[in-house]
Amino acid sequence: MNTRIFGRTGRAVGEIGLGTWQLGAGWGDVTDEVALATLRAAWDAGTTLFDTADVYGMGRSETLIGKFLRETPAARGKVYVATKLGRFSPPGWPENFTRTGVRQHTEASLKRLGVDALDLTQFHCIPFDVLKKGEVFEHARELKREGKIRDFGVSVESMEEADFCVRQEGVAALQIIFNIFRQKPIATLFAEAKKRNVALLVRLPLASGLLGGKMKKGQTFPANDHRNFNRDGQQFNVGETFAGLPFEKGVELADALKSLVPAGETLADFSLRWCLDFDAVSVLIPGAKNPEQARANTRASSLAPLGAALHAKLEEFYAREVAAHIRGAY
Ligand SMILES: NC(=O)c1ccc[n+]([C@@H]2O[C@H](COP(=O)([O-])OP(=O)(O)OC[C@H]3O[C@@H](n4cnc5c(N)ncnc54)[C@H](OP(=O)(O)O)[C@@H]3O)[C@@H](O)[C@H]2O)c1
Repeated sequence: MNTRIFGRTGRAVGEIGLGTWQLGAGWGDVTDEVALATLRAAWDAGTTLFDTADVYGMGRSETLIGKFLRETPAARGKVYVATKLGRFSPPGWPENFTRTGVRQHTEASLKRLGVDALDLTQFHCIPFDVLKKGEVFEHARELKREGKIRDFGVSVESMEEADFCVRQEGVAALQIIFNIFRQKPIATLFAEAKKRNVALLVRLPLASGLLGGKMKKGQTFPANDHRNFNRDGQQFNVGETFAGLPFEKGVELADALKSLVPAGETLADFSLRWCLDFDAVSVLIPGAKNPEQARANTRASSLAPLGAALHAKLEEFYAREVAAHIRGAY
């Protein structure tokens, strides 16, 4: 696994991390055994960054990572855990954003993960108005001074939010939606993030599975899978599910890409490799629901870059076929 330096933290991390929302809740059923096996498979394949959040399964994802760290001494201090806060109740919104709320959620994450300091805590898609007031950043700076967190960042929905947050003092990382179907960050964020040495975590690199290449029109998802209950943004930002594309359109677009995939590679390999080809990107955090997916997703690190001609074709594909269909703040 190739490593990249995670922005100004100076820490080297495997360029393919693991997203662990899947192991908490919101993606159908995953047992504790399968979840722990998935964490182990990722670690064994060279993954050294796990992305989680306090709210994933109401603490379950963090608790499982804590268990993994206890059971895998070699991984302690080697796996960088990026967690999030802001969406867990109690106290809930808007108290979550007060000094007390931020502190309370930080303490709870420390306990569940079983660590003395959080490597990274990210404000979890909290309202732009709250970010603009600036107080949450002050709360995070204070926790950093106290040694409860090593660094802080923000998971954002739109490039407008990203542009604001990348300029805030002390912000070490931004988490963005980025994939072949969501190319806007290339022009609007990458240069500034590089200039300021702010790390970029890429979520939805597989567009919630569309770019895994196995989805079919008319397919349904379990009741406890957000691809059912947030399919059109009913519960939270529409961009978080299928990158904001209507599902049937997304399947059509993913199918259209398959003819471009080099022989011997999968659409998932190709899609992850495309993201890695941008040097502003620090780490991808594809989600996996089982050890096979976690292992498969590390393969892109060893593949050759796509090359200029293919990148130009995909840029044109996005502009011509995709951009107009994306819904939600972007
Ligand atoms: N607001 C936020 O901050 C936020 C929001 C969303 C996600 N995230 C983070 O990002 C992580 C990744 O989740 P995501 O939403 O971004 O989804 P994603 O990584 O784009 O897609 C993950 C899904 O793709 C499918 N998949 C995975 N590996 C595959 C492979 N090798 N071949 C074919 N299909 C494959 C699986 O779907 P099946 O279940 O259908 O197999 C998996 O659940 C989350 O775990 C979380 O850590 C953060």
